[in-house]
Amino acid sequence: MTERSTPRIIPVVGHREAGLALPQSLRNAQSPAAAGLLTDARGRPLRDLRISVTDRCNFRCSYCMPKATFDKDYPYLPHASLLSFEEITRLARLFVQHGVQKIRLTGGEPLLRKNIEVLIEQLSGLRTPAGLPLDLTLTTNGSLLARKACALKAAGLKRVTVSLDGLDDAVFRTMNDVDFPVADVLAGLDAAQAAGLGPIKVNMVVKRGTNDHEILPMARHFKNSGVVLRFIEYMDVGVTNGWRMQEVMPSAEVIARIHNEMPLVPLEAAAPGETAQRWGYADARGNHDATGSEIGVISSVTQAFCGDCNRARLSTEGRLYLCLFASQGYDLKTLLRGAESDASISDALARIWQQRSDRYSELRSTLGADAGGPGGRRIEMSYIGG
Ligand code: GTP
Ligand code: 5AD
Ligand code: SF4
Ligand code: SF4
Repeated sequence: MTERSTPRIIPVVGHREAGLALPQSLRNAQSPAAAGLLTDARGRPLRDLRISVTDRCNFRCSYCMPKATFDKDYPYLPHASLLSFEEITRLARLFVQHGVQKIRLTGGEPLLRKNIEVLIEQLSGLRTPAGLPLDLTLTTNGSLLARKACALKAAGLKRVTVSLDGLDDAVFRTMNDVDFPVADVLAGLDAAQAAGLGPIKVNMVVKRGTNDHEILPMARHFKNSGVVLRFIEYMDVGVTNGWRMQEVMPSAEVIARIHNEMPLVPLEAAAPGETAQRWGYADARGNHDATGSEIGVISSVTQAFCGDCNRARLSTEGRLYLCLFASQGYDLKTLLRGAESDASISDALARIWQQRSDRYSELRSTLGADAGGPGGRRIEMSYIGG
């Protein structure tokens, strides 16, 4: 790192610390860990594995990678500490044997990882114990999608989720803070639709006073597009984004705004443990009009959904995090690069999941959102992905 004359904020991020070695109590224990499907200490199954493939991104969204911290001197992970595709696939196979049915590739921006298609090809070959293929998906900012959509589909990717915080070009350029034009992301969305990477979801993080005036234009734009538009409450994830409760727009307010112009009806949850509450457009009689696209709201600040959280997160350097708001992750890379057998790593995964009790968002809401909840030292979203 070079010397700088201006003071800079040094984020206290978990990945600078050593990863959590597996405590002896979780290794070589007398009783065997569960083989196959798992539940954690709160009875929650393991279904969803989110794999971060890079901590870098070409955008600087202020709620995720604010420029003041993520500047040219930021110590991104060196190449040697990234898991290889073979290592990721080996772990993913063990996770699938323990019940994982959905794998989401994230970043930073996952399409910046060189030859990501090769990893997708390897992961698309995995099968659940029942012999089914995985729900293999990827979250992207869309900037490289127009170029890559066909190759991703050919490699076996099922669908994509695209982050898009507004349709107005000036608003979008400000939100991504690198002056990236919205037209290029919309072209990426078109390419993904044409390549058959659906059902496509679009995620919009709403920051009150910054892009909340884009809620209605976004809803109108995607209403009959076949794309599922989801509004996300701005979260206090990481420690660098200067989160304030005043900038959170509760999902209830988002829904009320849309409903006022285009009446909505609530829809049943599609799957247990889902992050989003689903809404559909109403017809003239107030019934669900299935020709309209679906809307979703992800309300982790005002309505925590930890109760059935079935998500595990694997960082780029091979640490396993049990919650988006965790401060430390379990060091799986050391197990992978040691002489551990698949059986022994699988056993370790089982023990880690079985003792999990994380529920950060619930605790935050108990304490009151402004209290900040437990935490302090937390990982950044760009390190662990959405
Ligand atoms: P689908 O499988 O396509 O429905 O996606 P998903 O529901 O898994 O959601 P996605 O990965 O698109 O996540 C959307 C956003 O929800 C993320 O970017 C986060 O902002 C938030 N989110 C996702 N998972 C969690 C979680 O476990 N806890 C919290 N607090 N927020 C989450
Ligand atoms: N609050 C809510 N969502 C966030 N994301 C990143 N930072 C935040 C935050 N502070 C999510 C967005 C984005 C994805 C990559 O990560 O959904 O689309
Ligand atoms: Fe990049 Fe996504 Fe974070 Fe924006 S939210 S900086 S696009 S990783
Ligand atoms: Fe799961 Fe943690 Fe999010 Fe709660 S806060 S839903 S436990 S990742």
